[in-house]
Amino acid sequence: FVDEHIRPRRLKDYIGQPVVREQMEIFIGAARARGDALDHTLIFGPPGLGKTTLSNIIAQEMGANLRQTSGPVLEKAGDLAALLTNLEPHDVLFIDEIHRLSPMVEEILYPAMEDFQLDIMIGEGPAARSIKLDLPPFTLVGATTRAGLLTSPLRDRFGIVQRLEFYSVEDLAYIVNRAAGILGVPMEAGGAHEIAKRSRGTPRIANRLLRRVRDYAQVKANGRVSPEIADRALDMLNVDDKGLDHMDRRLLLALLEKFDGGPVGVDSLAAAIGEERGTIEDVLEPYLIQQGFLMRTPRGRVATRHTWQYFGMVMPAAIQEQT
Ligand code: ADE
Repeated sequence: FVDEHIRPRRLKDYIGQPVVREQMEIFIGAARARGDALDHTLIFGPPGLGKTTLSNIIAQEMGANLRQTSGPVLEKAGDLAALLTNLEPHDVLFIDEIHRLSPMVEEILYPAMEDFQLDIMIGEGPAARSIKLDLPPFTLVGATTRAGLLTSPLRDRFGIVQRLEFYSVEDLAYIVNRAAGILGVPMEAGGAHEIAKRSRGTPRIANRLLRRVRDYAQVKANGRVSPEIADRALDMLNVDDKGLDHMDRRLLLALLEKFDGGPVGVDSLAAAIGEERGTIEDVLEPYLIQQGFLMRTPRGRVATRHTWQYFGMVMPAAIQEQT
């Protein structure tokens, strides 16, 4: 079994994200009834929340093909032109990491999105010519970790913008149960709940932990995932009961121990833990902020009371007075 098999293929099987789901049901239903392609859709949110899954579902629900690529893969204008000219009406072109398109490729995208026109230069020097081609009406689905990373002309060309949120424990437990059913893993309700609690609000992490817990249950027990087995397996994997993993704890501990809880600039924090700034901003921080472990302030990142308590440390009195 690969991920393909446990991803939902229809909106009705898509758990959580109630706002996204309700809106997409309406927009897809309306476009279909009119016989139109769905408007271009931008999906943004932290990694692992189902941006690719949702674009698959959009194509399925539209009864269209999905063509998949990503910003960094499209090096030359011609790479995008080749994809665009092979589309059929109403097809979905999914561009992951759309914030990483080169400016030249982005230029091609504007008239393609707006007027379904391909406007491209062929050849070089005196022999160069500009050609225009009509494209079939298609849907561009762009995915990015943060909408703010896009240039504004690109962002403005999306008629639909969906922000994916972290999943609740209940929704994740449902997703884990569903995946366990598909994978044939004997799962107790409490076991799914334990995995869900410790998955950083993220289905991709939940599904990964499910596979590791399954391994553990197979080797250390009779294969059944009880709450106790899940708990022991997750302890072994260094995932704590708030769902924080090794990297989360490293970031927070550096903030407390090296910067007295902040405020500290993200670049200093990145240097202190030897991580890319982008990874901190896009992968680590969103969940820590949502869980109240970290604040973004104009003067930099700041730990909360909650963070000091979590590590069993005492918040210095001088900082306590400021907050
Ligand atoms: N697997 C991953 N994301 C999912 C979702 N939102 N609903 C159901 N199964 C999923």
